[in-house]
Amino acid sequence: MIYGVILAGGIGSRMGGEKPKQYLTVKNKPIIIYTIEKFLSCSEFDEIIVLCPSQWTEHTKNIIKKYLGPALEKIAVVEGGSTRNETIMNAIDYIEANGELDDDTIIVTHDSVRPFVTHRIIKENIAACRKYSACDTVIAATDTIVEAANGKEISNIPNRSIMYQGQTPQSFKAKKLKNAYNSLTDAEKDILTDAAKILVLKGERVALVDGETFNIKITYPYDLKIMKSLLECEE
Ligand code: CTP
Repeated sequence: MIYGVILAGGIGSRMGGEKPKQYLTVKNKPIIIYTIEKFLSCSEFDEIIVLCPSQWTEHTKNIIKKYLGPALEKIAVVEGGSTRNETIMNAIDYIEANGELDDDTIIVTHDSVRPFVTHRIIKENIAACRKYSACDTVIAATDTIVEAANGKEISNIPNRSIMYQGQTPQSFKAKKLKNAYNSLTDAEKDILTDAAKILVLKGERVALVDGETFNIKITYPYDLKIMKSLLECEE
């Protein structure tokens, strides 16, 4: 089974405002709806799980009904967790309780605030995840990455030609990810904010999938302007 997992459990503190950024309307619909639509257009998914803050569950169900009515039966709305990784674990728990969790179960996890993901990226995620334990969507770093361990002076400048910037989707064999996550201590869970890193540290091979420069994450108010412009380019 292949599940689309839309991560919308965050509150968007860097964006500010009253509602979490995934619910902001850009042009004529909320950002999260653009993202869910991309997943709905991929026939590969058996089910799409949308995880959101508990107090936004009703609102999430309402907007899905309003904008995506007929697709409702393919979508489950589930409560997110206190961290992004906990939100992913809630999706796996949901699958275990309501779907099929076996060694071949794949989850394609995606930020609800990356509305420009493409079918090509999703398809390549699924293909890579069938071969490997997991895969991560990346683009080659264009700027030189400068490391400063103390935030004041340079501690290292890695070779740019082997540096990439992580995007999403990140896809996983769900059972493997759950077992790896459960083997971490609470302190390790606090540090490991990136889900792919959990498997890398366990010695699993994680493949790369080519992302797109336009597969941006809406993080700050400025990104809303970019999103609007990109949508206008598509018209
Ligand atoms: N996310 C999630 N569960 C959490 C935290 C984040 O599902 N507990 C989701 C967000 O909703 C978002 C994605 O992960 O779609 C990427 O995270 P980020 O851009 O950091 O979102 P927020 O945590 O909402 O933003 P901020 O860090 O500014 O508060």
